[in-house]
Amino acid sequence: MFTEEELQQVEEIKSHYPTNLSAVMGALHLYQDKYGYVSDEGISYVAKLLEIPEEHVLGVVSFYEMFHQHPTGKYKLQVCTNVSCMLCNSDMVLRSIKEKIGIGIGEMTEDGLFSVHEVECLGSCGTAPVISVNKLYHDKLTPEKINELIDTLKAQG
Ligand code: FES
Repeated sequence: MFTEEELQQVEEIKSHYPTNLSAVMGALHLYQDKYGYVSDEGISYVAKLLEIPEEHVLGVVSFYEMFHQHPTGKYKLQVCTNVSCMLCNSDMVLRSIKEKIGIGIGEMTEDGLFSVHEVECLGSCGTAPVISVNKLYHDKLTPEKINELIDTLKAQG
């Protein structure tokens, strides 16, 4: 599942912690970056790799919204709907996305290009409303900016 190079990265992650339990987030990020989500198979794999209980890995994956247990779009539109973003019209963000690509929270476009996810505070409240697309933030959103962003991502394919 991991290449030699990726296994070395796991060793590097492990070296920062006193126990393998603490290396689980890093290993899961590595897995999700490669496969797009953490499947049941991925949970077993990471557990075996770190020699820790599968239940621990499952607990982490299901607790943190940054990890996905189902396939996601190539572009993950993570829409913050926490207080600052809500007050700055995160509803408009969701509405604009829905109008543009026809999907809402928890859905994926048929071509697999986009999926929409609701997330808690992204830590950029001063520039609300905010979304994160594959870890890159887009802030002070307007319907026009959302249209442009989606057009740009579609053009990148
Ligand atoms: S509430 Fe949206 S970034 Fe903080």
